[in-house]
Amino acid sequence: MKPTLASFPRSRPRRLRRTPALRKLTAECKLSVDDLIWPVFVQDSDIAETPVPSLPDVNRLSIKQLIRTAEEARALGIPAICLFPYIDPALKTAGCENAWDPDNLVNRAIRALKSAVPDIAVMTDVALDPYNTYGHDGIVKGDEIVNDETISALAKMAVAQADAGADILGPSDMMDGRIGAMRDALESAGHHNTLILSYAAKYASAFYGPFRDAVGASGALVGDKKTYQMDPANSDEALRLVERDLIEGADMVMVKPGQPYLDICRRVKDTFGVPTYAYQVSGEYAMIRAAGEKGWIDEDKVMIESLIAFKRAGCDGILTYFAPRMAKYLHNIDQ
Ligand code: PBG
Repeated sequence: MKPTLASFPRSRPRRLRRTPALRKLTAECKLSVDDLIWPVFVQDSDIAETPVPSLPDVNRLSIKQLIRTAEEARALGIPAICLFPYIDPALKTAGCENAWDPDNLVNRAIRALKSAVPDIAVMTDVALDPYNTYGHDGIVKGDEIVNDETISALAKMAVAQADAGADILGPSDMMDGRIGAMRDALESAGHHNTLILSYAAKYASAFYGPFRDAVGASGALVGDKKTYQMDPANSDEALRLVERDLIEGADMVMVKPGQPYLDICRRVKDTFGVPTYAYQVSGEYAMIRAAGEKGWIDEDKVMIESLIAFKRAGCDGILTYFAPRMAKYLHNIDQ
């Protein structure tokens, strides 16, 4: 029931905003380091970390450097990191076989992380694009991204990652039936407790550009991803996909990109009440950093505002390249 509101001057909503203390007391949501998932890029090399020009302060890391990053995450209180591999072009094939090799880069990285920093949750990406000659998330035959063959491949990839010790699997591929295929394969392999965070509402977005540079998929991509990723015009469809993925065995769901899709986050949370995450993707981060570098916006303030918006929209957490910077900021103001 809606209370009847008093009218001016009995009601002066500005009373609530008068001082910082009163504003803190009446804030409806809070951002905490507990809400952050830190996406990191890993490469097979012991040379110095490689910067990604379109993602300032984001580097591709060797496994050794990755361990130091996980230690930094632990020190900052960030609960989870998410791994994305830069695969040597020589290992990319049309069949994407490297994706489920137990000794591939990601699986070695997972094992190293779980033995060195076991208390950090390790999330992975389950999609074929870094391993695919054609840069697509699924296997390409002629002009088709074939669904059913791809989901068998993703199920093998999921089991290999769970065998290596991954805590949370993040299928970002948008094939039909992949959650069910992965869940059945995980159960058969005895991985009853491996979480699936389904990228259920993933849009065909131009905001992924800098990420594709980071994983070395930009040059490789033939065509676009519109036959499997969602049309930005759609919202009811997102709810149908979330429902389907939950029925097939997803534990948590993701909306991606983030800021242009806050309405989807809110609808998903209100409709299903399940753990709901948003990915503030590479293009969102790059835009804020670029405008900040030009001195056109205050980067810190825009970072904070962009992240609190996800909490307001109902998200339980955010994958963001700002994770370490936001965590440091939160610790400073807490001190
Ligand atoms: C692909 C994948 C993408 C991202 C995460 N996983 C790119 C794509 O779908 O082309 C993008 C993340 C970002 O832009 O930060 N499996």
